[in-house]
Order: sequence, then C-alpha cells, then structure tokens
Amino acid sequence: MPSSRGPIVLHVAAEVSPFHKSGGLGDVLGGLPTALGRAGIDTRIITGLFGADTKLASIGGRSALVTWPFTIDIWLAGKRLEARVHEARTHGGEVTTYFLEAPHLSRGGLYGHGDDVYRFAILAKGAVAIASALIRPPDAPGFAERDPAEIAVLHAHDWHTALAIYYARRSPLLRRVPSIFTIHNLAFQGVAEPSTAHYLDIGPDDFRSGFEHHGALNLMKGAILAADRVTTVSGNYAREIQTARYGQDLDGLLRHVDHKLRGIPNGIDVRSWDPTLDPALPAHFSANDLEGKALCRSALQFETGLAQNEHAPLLGIVSRFSSQKGIDLLCDAAPAHLAAGGQLVALGEGDAHLEDRFARLAARHRGAVSYSRAFDDGLSRRIYAGSDLFAMPSRFEPCGLAQMYAMRYGTIPVARATGGLVDTIYPLHNRYEVGGASGIVYRGEPNDPGALLGALHWARDVCSDRSALEALRWNAMHMDHSWDLSAKHYIHMYLDLGADLPIPET
Ligand code: ADP
Ligand code: GLC
Repeated sequence: MPSSRGPIVLHVAAEVSPFHKSGGLGDVLGGLPTALGRAGIDTRIITGLFGADTKLASIGGRSALVTWPFTIDIWLAGKRLEARVHEARTHGGEVTTYFLEAPHLSRGGLYGHGDDVYRFAILAKGAVAIASALIRPPDAPGFAERDPAEIAVLHAHDWHTALAIYYARRSPLLRRVPSIFTIHNLAFQGVAEPSTAHYLDIGPDDFRSGFEHHGALNLMKGAILAADRVTTVSGNYAREIQTARYGQDLDGLLRHVDHKLRGIPNGIDVRSWDPTLDPALPAHFSANDLEGKALCRSALQFETGLAQNEHAPLLGIVSRFSSQKGIDLLCDAAPAHLAAGGQLVALGEGDAHLEDRFARLAARHRGAVSYSRAFDDGLSRRIYAGSDLFAMPSRFEPCGLAQMYAMRYGTIPVARATGGLVDTIYPLHNRYEVGGASGIVYRGEPNDPGALLGALHWARDVCSDRSALEALRWNAMHMDHSWDLSAKHYIHMYLDLGADLPIPET
C-alpha cells in the first residue's frame, strides 16, 4: 500500500499500456505517468479492469493486485452498482494504478459495446469514489492507517473519462481540485441521444449549458467547458482544431476556450522502444552500427512472406485501420510503389472494408505485399525495425507515436504534413542537402492519393541514394522524443494551476 510522497497527480484513462491499449492513448498513459513519477511526483492512475483485455503479466499476473478490503458503491440514475478496486505498483515502480472492476464496465472488451457511454460513466463515477477514498480513507481493516491524501490535480483523457471532471466538480471532496482534460482524438467525442443524460446523472440545466451540442449529448464538450485546462497532444493540432477543417464541429467551442487550451507533444518510452535492447527483434542495432537492422529487414521479409530482396524499398505501416490514417490512400498508391520495385508490409485492424482492401492487395501481389490483420506488439516492433520507410498518410493526426517509433528504429517516415507529424519530424527538402532532416513530410489534400504517390516516388529515390539515406537515418535515430521533456510541460501546467509539486530542473 503506498504512502503519499506529497500531493497526488491523478490520471483517469480508458487505456494504459501495457495493460490495455488500442492505440497511442495507451502508450501515453504508459509513458507520461512514469516520467512524472521519476520527476518525484506521486502519480496515480485510475482505469478499468476489462477482463481478458487487461493484461497483467508484466506485473506478475492478477495475484499481484491488492484488492481493497471493501467494495465501493457507484450510484448512477438511482441504481447502485457494487464495484471492487484492485491496486498495484506499476510503471517500473513509479506509479500506483487502481483498476476498477464494476458491472457493465468489466464485461470483456475495451470498446465496441452499444452502451460504451454508460460503461465509461461508471469508470468516471468510480474514479471519483476512489479519489474520495484516498482523500478520506474509510475506516476499514488494513485501510484505516492510511494517511489522508491530497490530490493536486485531476487529469482526464479523451471522451471516455470526460465525465470524471464533471462528477468531480459536484463532489464535496473534489470540487476544488484543478482539472485537466486532454484531447487525444477529437474524432471521438462520446456522443449519445439527449435522453442518455438522465442515465448518466447529468441534470437538465447542466445538459443545456454544458453537454448539449446540436441537440445531442456530447461528453467531450462538457469536459472542454468544465476543465481548468484543456490540452491536446501537439502544438500544431492545438492550432488545427480551432479551424473548421480539423475542428470536427467543435472548432467554435475550441476558439472560445483558447485561453485555457495548450498543445503539449507526446513523447515515447525510450526504454521500452530501444533497438539496442528490444527483445522482440531478431537482431539489435544502433545508429553507429546498422548491421542488425539489415538482419531485421531480411528476417521481416521471411516472417511476412515477402521476397528476399535487398534493394526493394520496403515500406511499412502499423496502424489502426480507420479513415483517419489514410489506409485507403495507401491502397490507391500501392500499385505504383510495387510497379517501381517496392515492397509493402502492413499490420493493422479496424474498419472491415479497409481490412478487406488490404487483404485483396496482399492476395494479388504475393511476395510483394504482406498484410497481417491482427494486433501484435512484437510484429509491430519488427516492422518498425525492418522497414526502410514508414507510411503515415494521415488525414489528421493529433500527435502520432508510430512515426517516432519508426525514426527511433532508423526507418524513415513518409508522412502527410498534418498535426503532430509536422511537430515531430524534421522535413527533408533536398536529398543533396539532408541537413538535420529526419523524414519526408509532404503537403497534400487529405483525400488526394496523388500527393502520397509523389512522396513515395521521392522516398524511393532517397532509398537509392546511400549517403542521403544514411544521413536521414542518423538524424532520425538521434531525435530526442523522450517523455522527460514533455512531462516538464505538464508539470509546469500543474504548477500554474496551483499544485504544490516539486519544480522540475531545467
Ligand atoms: P493512434 O493512437 O491514432 O492509433 P499513434 O501513432 O499515436 O496512433 O499510436 C498507435 C499505437 O498503436 C502505436 O504504439 C502502434 O504501434 C500501435 N498499434 C496500432 N495498430 C497496431 C497493431 N495492429 N498491432 C500492434 N500495435 C499497433
Ligand atoms: C490519438 C491520436 C494520435 C495520438 C494518440 C496519443 O489516438 O490519433 O495521433 O498520438 O492519441 O495521444
């Protein structure tokens, strides 16, 4: 059981890597809290226990969880739900994580149930109940000796935990705790029928003044209005979402709250993503010695059924298959890439029509295209390591972590100039003067496969120029995207909100 090291930074999130992850949200909740913990901040996370989707192997399995000696009551729309809380020291010992096991929430599967809005309201209410028990420990065996904790800030992520901010405002113990709401993806706002508000304990006045958007219930809108600070995961995306083009219909609101909106870029966990040590790779390498990368490349071709070919520019992609990621544009551009002698290796799952398009492409071009319809962390690492180029033709990209993993593994991103891709890749302008460039960043309309075609053409050209490729690789592998820097920005924001936390060294 943890003893408090000072006021607590409390995160609430649906995904926390390595326990459960469907995309970058999980990675952020893996990396940021660790960096905060290392900076001397008592950092805790509240998330769900989702059944088989919550993988506890990294902390020694379910038996490593300490279950609270009492159940907590979650009241929603007059119904009592009895929940259990399991806690564990996580994130290499830097963080305490509370896993909420509650009816409806813990039925297996992270998302995709028809009642997700209700399920995550349970997580949000549970978070407030857990936080309250930390502030005022109940008189229960093994618990009463705990010191009352002080919560410095409540930090909620994405629509799933938007209601934690609203419920905290209405809780006598938490109403004065400063709150931060981070937008990882504005495309998912937690929208439901207005009548749902009643089941989530949102009163008619609060619905009208906070959550109502074009007649519907919009959880993200409620959190944007209620939070003391709203952040998103890159400076460029923070600007973009205030425009009609990228604002997903909330741009007016985001311009209105501009005074409290900040862009803080994501980092990556450089310990877990390290090509000199990564146990998922068949060989290791560094910027100074790339022999292992060549081995990873031919092992990847072997593993995925691609022809062994040293010269074919090998383009990789690891992605959720959603329209955000431009998977359809890559399918459109693939035949020209293959005709020019390239290969393509893809890993991803999501929209069935995109999966089917890729499966057809792979069937039509055996030995040149490989597609794995799966979620596979090990294979993703082997693709980052074994590819020459990495495709990110995103229509929008709040930050993007995949391009940062690719660069760390010496693979050159080919990315559309949007969102965090602009902030995290130094663009190549001229292959005869690589300078500090670390990738290819191309401009183009979000729906235009022609722009991607042009960028891939250029990228293949760069691959054929050994000295340009080596210089790009060197720069890419030397970029510092570690969490420590981004964590400092968060800490300064917490301090601005009045939190009594250790001031980071500059
Ligand atoms: P997003 O959060 O929008 O999905 P990011 O680039 O921020 O995009 O993060 C995606 C994360 O999910 C990366 O860690 C990536 O490697 C991982 N990922 C996506 N799809 C898969 C998959 N099919 N198998 C393994 N990892 C995946
Ligand atoms: C979202 C975004 C992605 C970002 C991730 C983590 O899913 O699509 O760009 O990197 O969240 O913040």
